[in-house]
Amino acid sequence: PTPVVLDCDPGHDDAIAILLAAGAPELDLRAITTVAANQTLDKVTLNAQRICSAAGISVPIARGCSRPLVRPLYVAEDIHGESGLDGPSFGAISVGVVEDHAVDIMHAGEPVTLIATGALTNVALYLQRYGTSGVREIVLMGGSTERGNTTPYAEFNIYVDPEAAAVVFASGVPVTMIGLNVTHQALVTPSVVARFEALGPLGRLCGELMTFFAATYRDVFGFAAPPLHDPVAVARVIDPSLVTCVEAFVGIETTGTLTRGATVVDLHGRMGFEPNAQVAVGLDVDRFFDRVIDAVARLT
Ligand code: BDR
Ligand code: CA
Repeated sequence: PTPVVLDCDPGHDDAIAILLAAGAPELDLRAITTVAANQTLDKVTLNAQRICSAAGISVPIARGCSRPLVRPLYVAEDIHGESGLDGPSFGAISVGVVEDHAVDIMHAGEPVTLIATGALTNVALYLQRYGTSGVREIVLMGGSTERGNTTPYAEFNIYVDPEAAAVVFASGVPVTMIGLNVTHQALVTPSVVARFEALGPLGRLCGELMTFFAATYRDVFGFAAPPLHDPVAVARVIDPSLVTCVEAFVGIETTGTLTRGATVVDLHGRMGFEPNAQVAVGLDVDRFFDRVIDAVARLT
């Protein structure tokens, strides 16, 4: 199996990403690291513990950065609620948090694949501290080839810490960007919720999470069903054929007056820069959801 570290900010879709990463036989989940974004570091770390406790996942959980590299923290309370994982009531916490900082846990010795589903603060700090030799590749949920979701042109994870995103895209490490243009195809319809709920207690917990997520996506964006953003990044590592990608240059807007956090994706090579990323452009939606359901079933 592929050794991976999942850097996340749970978050409803991050919670499912944790289950997918832990339940997929193709992956060897070495650690879960947390970063402030959807909610404060304390809240998202507690949420990682909640999900791992509910699912019997016993990998190390390590806390990372409590704020972006140079900006104040901006959280997504409107989408994920006051706790960062509103909806279900969780049972007792049975897993702890290790002492080490996220960035030190990522440095495992053997090169790992970093899957990043929150702001890129920890990943940028890791690269600055340890260089690139310990990372095989970085697969991140963030950005878009189209419009944003936090401002008209910025997606949330990039908007929260654009300076960190700029470090990651300029690092020279193979980067795959899973943006809104594909994650908005991964819609959790009522039939997907029913498939979760048929799996028993853990599946019903997923159903409760998705029901809350559906309500905020309906209220804030008018979506008929919520997009399961973060698990798409995990799916790309499980089976690259699930997500079609093209090579392109991606620039991060850090100084725009109206566009900070925008991912400038040069799909047609018009700017003359060398490509620095694989950019997701397609998703096999049915096979993706089969993998998500299968992973939760294996953890049940
Ligand atoms: C991203 O923002 C967060 O709210 C989600 O967890 C996801 O990582 C989508 O823009
Ligand atoms: Ca996330």
